[in-house]
Amino acid sequence: MAERLDGTVALVTGASSGIGAAAAVSLASAGATVAVAARRKDRLDALAGGLRDQGGTVLVLESDVTDEAQATAAVERTVAELGRLDTLINNAGVMLLGPVVGAPLSEWQRMVELNVLGLLYCAHAAVPHLLRAAEDSPRRVADMVNISSVAGRIARTGSGVYNLTKHGVGAFSESLRQEVARRHVRVSLVEPGATATELAGHNRPEVLENLGAQFAGTERMQAEDIAEAITFIVTRPRHVAVNEILIRPTEQER
Ligand SMILES: NC(=O)c1ccc[n+]([C@@H]2O[C@H](COP(=O)([O-])OP(=O)(O)OC[C@H]3O[C@@H](n4cnc5c(N)ncnc54)[C@H](OP(=O)(O)O)[C@@H]3O)[C@@H](O)[C@H]2O)c1
Repeated sequence: MAERLDGTVALVTGASSGIGAAAAVSLASAGATVAVAARRKDRLDALAGGLRDQGGTVLVLESDVTDEAQATAAVERTVAELGRLDTLINNAGVMLLGPVVGAPLSEWQRMVELNVLGLLYCAHAAVPHLLRAAEDSPRRVADMVNISSVAGRIARTGSGVYNLTKHGVGAFSESLRQEVARRHVRVSLVEPGATATELAGHNRPEVLENLGAQFAGTERMQAEDIAEAITFIVTRPRHVAVNEILIRPTEQER
């Protein structure tokens, strides 16, 4: 049975679009107070406005999580202004594809800085608060959900560095899961397949064309489909930890 999240606080990174925005809406509807972080404040304000209209409390955090100080501040402001942190959705990410040969190094740097370091900065700042929440909250459990990808399970030509970052997220998540399991902080991994968001749009035109051809005729998932999986994970009772969810569009073969 799903539990309600009333009285809990969730921080969602990358909440200005796509999966992060949908996750914030879904967690708020399950009763959580949400803090939403990203760089585009106008988008966060619009999201927060909608949630407040429905009676929710929302903290908007304009932050670039590739900057250690800003990532840490996002976590600390959440705790200072909302009183606690029960749930971290480590979602902000970028996917820049294409062959290794001739790839712009700047694309690799962006992916490592956000998908790996940004996620680590948020995790590092959040863990002490999650451990405390697992001790003193009525539910006596806390959650970190890290958003990986099918690309975190299987490496393929044309996505080498994205594969590297998402495999890294998987390895880190499993190690941390083992470290904090007995203290009732659940560390979970969500691995989506093709989902209709802004993610692919940051690629070079030739890469985008290739991607379009690859997924032509495939019905993609919606961000809400992934948000539902995230909310399923964090609403489990204390003794149930959903460690990993791999979720593809029905027609996606690989
Ligand atoms: N869509 C898919 O098919 C798919 C599949 C597998 C995995 N995923 C994963 O799902 C996650 C969410 O992606 P999405 O599909 O929802 O894409 P999206 O719509 O592009 O969302 C990415 C989010 O990350 C934020 N972001 C980017 N750089 C940031 C930074 N430096 N600091 C803070 N936030 C930053 C963006 O906001 P700002 O630009 O406002 O900062 C945006 O809110 C990613 O980790 C992605 O790898 C997506």
